[in-house]
Amino acid sequence: MKIRKAVVTAAGWGTRFLPATKAQPKEMLPLVDKPMIQYVVEEAVASGIKQIIIVTALGKRAIEDHFDRSFELEYALKQKGSSELLEKVQQTMELANISYIRQKEQLGLGHAVLTAKELIGDEPFALFLPDDIIESKIPAMKQMLGVYDRYGSSVIAVQTIAPEESKAYGVIAPRQVEKRIYQVLSLVEKPEPEDAPSNLGIVGRYILTPEIFDMLEKTTPGKGGEIQLTDGLRLLLKKQKIYAYQFQGTRHDTGTPLGFLKASVEFALKRPDLGPRFKEYLQQLNLSN
Ligand code: UTP
Repeated sequence: MKIRKAVVTAAGWGTRFLPATKAQPKEMLPLVDKPMIQYVVEEAVASGIKQIIIVTALGKRAIEDHFDRSFELEYALKQKGSSELLEKVQQTMELANISYIRQKEQLGLGHAVLTAKELIGDEPFALFLPDDIIESKIPAMKQMLGVYDRYGSSVIAVQTIAPEESKAYGVIAPRQVEKRIYQVLSLVEKPEPEDAPSNLGIVGRYILTPEIFDMLEKTTPGKGGEIQLTDGLRLLLKKQKIYAYQFQGTRHDTGTPLGFLKASVEFALKRPDLGPRFKEYLQQLNLSN
């Protein structure tokens, strides 16, 4: 069955960015001048997925406004003759067909996914976590759709991680079936390095069969009282095969201030309009320190 819909979970508190996220969504923090959530919406669209469901919550109105029309701003830009900026503003509105659903209590990623159940219905779907930004020639989700087409099962994105990083990831026990493709034998959430079953950590891109919803409904709150997606996946694994795909590309963990800063610097350096001057500035900083 073709993947037509994507869920983007954007309802979390973003506590690692407080106080910046007290009154504005983490997902709207920009890498240079584009909000994180726009990068993942663009990845979904570039992967051929046109219907996008964003899970939001209290205090996240800016996300809806970002992808909506702004007559006043468009008018002001037209008056000024800023056609390039006008185009940028209009592009965000035309990007995709987006629906929003509110997660009324932040009970975890698994719960956020479950919130989208009625809008997804009985079909497989893509899931994007907007604090993982992936740069790649072929969009990461498009690569994963290729795996889904061949295996017809849920697919989760993985990347190799250093042993000491295991506590920040869900880690899989893999059985390799092809280059970059593994059958998932089990999943462990945030293991100590000595308990990690491999060096393959899960990152924020998934293709999930609709049976995940039944599993999430059965999942009891785990760490921190939250319904963990990994726990739902572990239940799903008892019923269906799950595959892991080691995508080609660079993933930026923009969910932490350090990862966000690193990504901001890398993205700025790659920008033709800013990169050369920014590089010069960074080199000067280096000299004076
Ligand atoms: P994170 O745990 O990285 O995001 O969840 P967070 O909870 O917003 O951030 P911290 O940990 O407090 O700093 C990964 C993704 O899942 C969403 C988040 O918005 C983020 O995109 N999420 C998380 C929800 O939508 N609902 C939740 O209840 C929890």
